[in-house]
Amino acid sequence: MLHIIWISLLIALSNDLGGSVNAQSSDDSLLLLPTQSRCPAADPNLNFRPVVGILSHPGDGASGRLSNATDASYIAASYVKFVESAGARVIPLIYNEPLEVLYKKLSLVNGVIFTGGSAKTGLYFEVVTSIFKDVLKKNDAGDRFPLLAICLGFELVTMIVSKDKNILERFSASNQASTLQFTENIDINGTVFQRFPPVLLKKLSSECLVMQNHKYGISPEKLQKTESLSSFFEILTTTADSNDKVYVSTAQARRYPVTAVQWHPEKNAFEWASSSIPHSEDAIQVTQNVANFIVREARMSTHRPSSQEVLNNLIYNYSPTYCGKFGTGFDEVYIFS
Ligand SMILES: *[C@@H]1O[C@H](CO)[C@@H](O)[C@H](O)[C@H]1NC(C)=O
Ligand SMILES: *[C@@H]1O[C@H](CO)[C@@H](O)[C@H](O)[C@H]1NC(C)=O
Repeated sequence: MLHIIWISLLIALSNDLGGSVNAQSSDDSLLLLPTQSRCPAADPNLNFRPVVGILSHPGDGASGRLSNATDASYIAASYVKFVESAGARVIPLIYNEPLEVLYKKLSLVNGVIFTGGSAKTGLYFEVVTSIFKDVLKKNDAGDRFPLLAICLGFELVTMIVSKDKNILERFSASNQASTLQFTENIDINGTVFQRFPPVLLKKLSSECLVMQNHKYGISPEKLQKTESLSSFFEILTTTADSNDKVYVSTAQARRYPVTAVQWHPEKNAFEWASSSIPHSEDAIQVTQNVANFIVREARMSTHRPSSQEVLNNLIYNYSPTYCGKFGTGFDEVYIFS
């Protein structure tokens, strides 16, 4: 009935236009109007306003050029842009704030990122351990809560899961782009690589599309023979360093939404200081696909915190500092002190 009315109306309209408009084609486009406004309701099981917590790292991120404050910590802005580019907002988790403040902020986010860096001891290590345990606890309680551990983040999770602070091995993988070699017969369903376009997936193993910058890591042999690690992680990819020594470059927790990458997905699109960082269209797609993955995971979190509390804590309450003009390190950093 409604359609009949619409059609009559449209015919009347197009007639009114004096025949200069092709009645058939204008009918076709206008007829879409009533159905276009009926969008299906959003999936109630997903959170379309996800917020990701990023843990700050000790220092100013610029070797004292920006701040020498002893309580300074920083987040490279590339991690923030990485999250924002995939449709989520960021709350900084400032590592040296009182634990109750940190835990309050953890209750406002839908997932966490551990960044790259160098700190492996002291308060920072304790806080990473505490958050990691909380991530597992939340998931065990049925509250899906993803963690993406990047570079140092991967190394720290390796130390925590194995309960061995000396587990890491030395590798020669500073400032170099690399390939990713996939474990034979690996099922990428449910992993960071699941929605990578097949062509890009293939290129990852033959072209240097990911950025490595680390001196430590873990070999696949050591991970496999360390029972705590092999029962926790499945190895998705390995990479050879400049001495052809092989390390685990991507690992996925078997029973948790915990993904660990020794490489830097955020750098390809957002860091410019090192000429080794790949910036090709394929490399940028790698950044975008990993960002989409972690935010997709965060949308599955059931946390629905008060929006005012979220606004009060978002990264937008801080301003990044441009330091790329020094030509080394990060382009922009958020400093907390
Ligand atoms: C931090 O200390 C170093 C060494 O003393 C100095 O060169 C630098 O200018 C200081 N940075 C700031 C932001 O004051
Ligand atoms: C991927 O895994 C999910 C569950 O984790 C399952 O429902 C789905 O069928 C799997 N898809 C493929 C293509 O194996």
